[in-house]
Amino acid sequence: MKYIFLGPPGAGKGTLAAKVADEYKLPHISTGAIFRSAIKNETPLGLQVKAIIDSGALVSDELTVALVRERLSEDDVRAGFILDGFPRTIAQADALAGITAIDAAVNFDISDDAVIERLSGRRVCRTCGRNFHVSFMPPAREGVCDDCGGALYVRDDDKIEAIKNRLVVYREQTAPLIAYYRERGLLVDIDARPATDAVLEEFRAKFPKA
Ligand code: AP5
Ligand code: MG
Repeated sequence: MKYIFLGPPGAGKGTLAAKVADEYKLPHISTGAIFRSAIKNETPLGLQVKAIIDSGALVSDELTVALVRERLSEDDVRAGFILDGFPRTIAQADALAGITAIDAAVNFDISDDAVIERLSGRRVCRTCGRNFHVSFMPPAREGVCDDCGGALYVRDDDKIEAIKNRLVVYREQTAPLIAYYRERGLLVDIDARPATDAVLEEFRAKFPKA
């Protein structure tokens, strides 16, 4: 299956994608994670996108589509994939349709207040990128990743001003994709408000493993 995970920032797309990728044996492709890795490694791409991402704006369609096109040309995606955080504009969705046909657009449904609570408490491992939350998914030792022992940090785009900007950008540029995929018969809503295990349970019920 070829899934896209659609929804506002902080809806839990990345958290659920990691679990589904593991359980359904699918590659998890997060454009945000690719950009963050490039920033960390100070590659030319990273230097180009850092200020844009920190402010909560979107990277250009041209750059993002080129990155995804290259990733989707690799062998491991033939049987399926989870695209997390792409497409984010109608132009990106049109470009994706020219690259491959997806099976489902999973829409994570959640309120702005919950998003702000989730993002302002998020902590990310500097080494492996795993996400935690100070209240909802705390690490066993404060500030330390359970998986690899790396240090946890607050993403620059999880500062309150950037969160608010990301919500505006989401509403203006990404939310129209809900109607786009509904019209094509590909939209499947998922209630993103409960705890992760319950969200995963709803996903399993809607997409039973073959
Ligand atoms: P990206 O990394 O995609 O960020 P985002 O969409 O803003 O989403 P987040 O990663 O913030 O949220 P999420 O839904 O993955 O939530 P998470 O699981 O972490 O993109 C970052 C930036 O890169 C963009 O702003 C843009 O600049 C650029 N970019 C990326 N893709 C692009 C594209 N296609 N085009 C242009 N630019 C692009 O969960 C959030 C928190 O909540 C965590 O702390 C987690 O522990 C907690 N949590 C998760 N689920 C639950 C739950 N069920 N209950 C309680 N807590 C939960
Ligand atoms: Mg994410």
